Amino acid sequence: MLTDKEKLEKMAMLGVELNKVRDVDILLERVLSDARSFVNADAGSIYIRDKESLNFTYSQNDSLQTRIPEGEKLIYSTFTMPIDKKSIAGYVAATGEPLNIADVYRIEPTAPYGFSKKFDEKSGYTTRSVFTVPLMTTRGDVLGILQIINAQDENEQIIPFSENDERMLLHFAGIASVALLRAQLTRTILLRMIRMSELRDPKETGAHVNRVGSYSVEIYTHWARRNQIDSKEIERNRDSLRMAAMLHDVGKVAISDQILKKPGKLTDEEFEEMKHHTTIGARLFLDAQSEFDEVAQEVALNHHERWDGDGYPGYVDVETGAPLKGYPLVGGKPRGKKGEEIPIFGRIVALADIYDALSHARIYKEAWDESKVLETMRYESGRKLDPVLVEIFFSRLHVLRSIQHRYKED
Ligand code: C2E
Ligand code: SIN
Ligand code: SIN
Ligand code: FE
Ligand code: FE
Repeated sequence: MLTDKEKLEKMAMLGVELNKVRDVDILLERVLSDARSFVNADAGSIYIRDKESLNFTYSQNDSLQTRIPEGEKLIYSTFTMPIDKKSIAGYVAATGEPLNIADVYRIEPTAPYGFSKKFDEKSGYTTRSVFTVPLMTTRGDVLGILQIINAQDENEQIIPFSENDERMLLHFAGIASVALLRAQLTRTILLRMIRMSELRDPKETGAHVNRVGSYSVEIYTHWARRNQIDSKEIERNRDSLRMAAMLHDVGKVAISDQILKKPGKLTDEEFEEMKHHTTIGARLFLDAQSEFDEVAQEVALNHHERWDGDGYPGYVDVETGAPLKGYPLVGGKPRGKKGEEIPIFGRIVALADIYDALSHARIYKEAWDESKVLETMRYESGRKLDPVLVEIFFSRLHVLRSIQHRYKED
């Protein structure tokens, strides 16, 4: 539990810290865990507003977490609720006013809102004290809702949220809202960039790239823990990788519609043209301004290299696409990178991209059954894919499935 002095110090750092996080998903996880640690709360959730509804987006619950193996994540089903005064979260979003409830099982019968027992009944958890605060812009637009659940005293007994907790969380919500608005703008711009490149079709959505981003982060996190990478570095890399992975195919912006949207198989010549999307994508990030640009370049360039060395583009000069001097040519072409010569983020996104491409329909192919997808993933271990990553892939399959569920084609 944090002392008051520690809380103040931490609060002072937060504006700076949170504003370094650029990816929305990573930011929300951070906001929730920081908010909970300020008031020693057992659980919490974030809802993000989408027009007239709230989407249940993130949730953490320490008590439920202890019932599952260490390092695992709780998997919640996502749901949507209307913004109206009938639910607690809806009420706060509709009015823009925070709500501090000492015991949700004893809400005044005259209150417009009621507590839905569904989650408690399903999970065996008991919700008591709930503090709900809107995440709002300075203009008063509601971005979402932060709901903190079950404050605890030193003995982990559930207590109501104090006035001090209220003040702290209100202040915190203000800081978090600024960071959230910024991250949402970044995400919007990224999605536009992606739509412009891969999708070039107004009916398409960002579901594929969101899935590739989330799978990549999940696999990286486990790979990094195995390799004892410092947790601060993991956190920073997760943020960059998520967005970089979403942009893996941004170089397709330069590929003609005829090839990109061809319903059938590509000819050899067309495929040679298609391969340029790797170097073209990497070129966009050549003037590496930040760590993110470096990761994005690494991913765009290397996501079609193969573990066995038969991938593309191999050792090329990113700027010109010409073979890099000092590396041997194979059949007149640059030699492919092999094994750990391929940067880790390239190896990870290669796996995520193939898994997603096989699992879903493409303009040139049908979606495959999961059993066939998994058989192929196993087959590609040591061929296209890094065997260690394939092993991590299978150990995290339940999480990857929940990501598929979360970003369905719509
Ligand atoms: P993509 O659709 O994002 O596919 C990414 C990667 O997933 C592919 O890289 C390949 O490794 C794997 N993959 C996708 N579909 C299949 C499949 O049916 N069988 C197998 N075994 N693997 C599959 P690759 O081959 O380097 O292709 C890169 C990109 O080139 C693809 O990105 C897609 O945009 C395009 N492409 C590849 N083949 C065709 C094709 O026959 N027709 C069209 N129109 N485009 C193709
Ligand atoms: C709400 O804010 O009403 C939803 C949370 C819950 O019912 O557990
Ligand atoms: C995500 O970023 O969507 C979840 C992946 C993870 O946190 O491991
Ligand atoms: Fe690609
Ligand atoms: Fe792709």
